[in-house]
Amino acid sequence: MDRNYMELIDAAKEVRKNAYAPFSGFAVGAAVLTSNGKIYTGVNVENSSYGLTICAERVAVFKAVSEGERELKAVAIYTDTEEPVWPCGACRQVLYEFAQNGDMDVVSATSSGKVEVKKLSELLPEGFKFRLGM
Ligand code: THU
Repeated sequence: MDRNYMELIDAAKEVRKNAYAPFSGFAVGAAVLTSNGKIYTGVNVENSSYGLTICAERVAVFKAVSEGERELKAVAIYTDTEEPVWPCGACRQVLYEFAQNGDMDVVSATSSGKVEVKKLSELLPEGFKFRLGM
């Protein structure tokens, strides 16, 4: 690991207990680290109308943004799996929107004790960006 993400991983692990996943049984915890050092957490929230489910990563990002945050440095996700899990395509694009200079660290930790870090740019090359006047 390039830097110490233990606090971020612990936050993702702890919040995972609140995951609402009665349909898939797959509980995910996520935590984002903002440029000013704050942590916001999220869990996946499923729905009887399955397509309305939202991933843990997006909940964490939206919580941060709705509190006024605009720059995310890293995201950690925690799952009860043998191998690390990486954010789905939709979440990668949502993370990209708030990445500094188009990049951030993505940390994946598992109950099996594995921790891996990848760059968002590796997971989502050429993400979509639009600004008025572009
Ligand atoms: N899920 C996440 O919360 N994050 C991911 O990175 C992958 C998938 C959730 C969505 C759904 O509630 C469950 O995991 C199974 O797909």
